Amino acid sequence: MSRDRRYQNVDDFRRAACRRLPKIFADYIEGGAFSETTLARNRMGFDRYALSQRVLQDLAPQPDLSATYLGRRWSLPFFPGPIGFLGLYRRDGDLLVGLAAKAAGVPFGLSTFSIKGIASLAPQLGDNLAFQLYLDRDPAVNESYLAACREAGVETIFLTVDTAITSVRERDNRNGFRAVKHITPGLAWQFAKRPRWSLDLLRNGFPGVELVEGRPEFGRGALAQASALSSRLDKHLTWDKVKALRDLWPGRLVIKGVSDPRDGEIARQSGVDGVVLSNHGGRQLDHGHATISQVAAMRAALGPGCELLVDSGFRRGSDVVKALALGADAVMMGRPFAWAVAAEGAWGTGRLFSLLAAEIGITLQLMGLNSVDQLKAAPAGDYITGG
Ligand SMILES: Cc1cc2nc3c(=O)[nH]c(=O)nc-3n(C[C@H](O)[C@H](O)[C@H](O)COP(=O)(O)O)c2cc1C
Repeated sequence: MSRDRRYQNVDDFRRAACRRLPKIFADYIEGGAFSETTLARNRMGFDRYALSQRVLQDLAPQPDLSATYLGRRWSLPFFPGPIGFLGLYRRDGDLLVGLAAKAAGVPFGLSTFSIKGIASLAPQLGDNLAFQLYLDRDPAVNESYLAACREAGVETIFLTVDTAITSVRERDNRNGFRAVKHITPGLAWQFAKRPRWSLDLLRNGFPGVELVEGRPEFGRGALAQASALSSRLDKHLTWDKVKALRDLWPGRLVIKGVSDPRDGEIARQSGVDGVVLSNHGGRQLDHGHATISQVAAMRAALGPGCELLVDSGFRRGSDVVKALALGADAVMMGRPFAWAVAAEGAWGTGRLFSLLAAEIGITLQLMGLNSVDQLKAAPAGDYITGG
């Protein structure tokens, strides 16, 4: 069967990625916190909403999917959000997802925990590169991140605020993710069972996190660095720190990981440019809300001047359309791009963009709409019901 036929949706990439990756990484990507109830709810939330079909409208040959967010016009209303260690799941994974985003005309959110760093990606990704910042407990380290952003001409920083407490992912605990600092016999066995992934490791070596490479306090190699980076996260994140960063960073500042509209209200008052409504893909607070169920209330809390992006559980074009209909400016996706790049590299990420774009276009036109702008201009409730 041809690849085009084999890959019809995100779930096809998920299954293929799990077949190619050692269990420790497949589980790290897929897993959620504790009982994984928030993880499941994120998906179930979408089923509580229904879209309205309108017929006999004057449909254009091609729907216009362009949308305005992060201060600009982009070709699509969704883009890849920050995923740690993409370059572990596929050699140069960060670069491949970034290049696919650039080709699709959307931003790419590079994680602090990426394998390739800002300096090596900026020349290739240009304006499409945005940086996700985890605050380290050492202000000098944070300053080095900001300096790298300034030097590379990065416009947007996503400050992630929902990880001051590290939640428990039981799958990771079982596999020893973030606890193993080198390749143990158990890991070697997992790697041996995934020869396609392991061959690359043998040929090209174990990658490291470029941003902290050569700094002994972070250890050597991505596994040790993953554990050091996580243990060094600033546990005393407060709104004062958001305001301090606002003063330090003249570019666009978006805080990622706000899920209660009351926090959305404080975010707006603290002068940030936008908010990502996110529960970290169900990886932090278990038994929380599905993010889709909070979009309308968050939009109301933020008012018109503060951008609203949303992620967690988005897998379908119709999921994206629902978020836009409820008031989001754009959607970010995490795991889908990790799975696509792990399964099929550059081809996979390109295929994922085109599948999702086609699904969004078809959904909009079946709703009698020719563009994302038309959907966003419609009064709330015109095209979506439920919740
Ligand atoms: C494997 C993995 C790694 C992640 N790494 C980061 C990260 O480094 N920084 C960050 O802000 N969020 C990180 N996230 C959260 C994502 O940015 C995003 O909020 C979440 O994946 C959205 O849910 P989805 O995967 O269902 O799309 C990570 C998520 C996953 C699954």
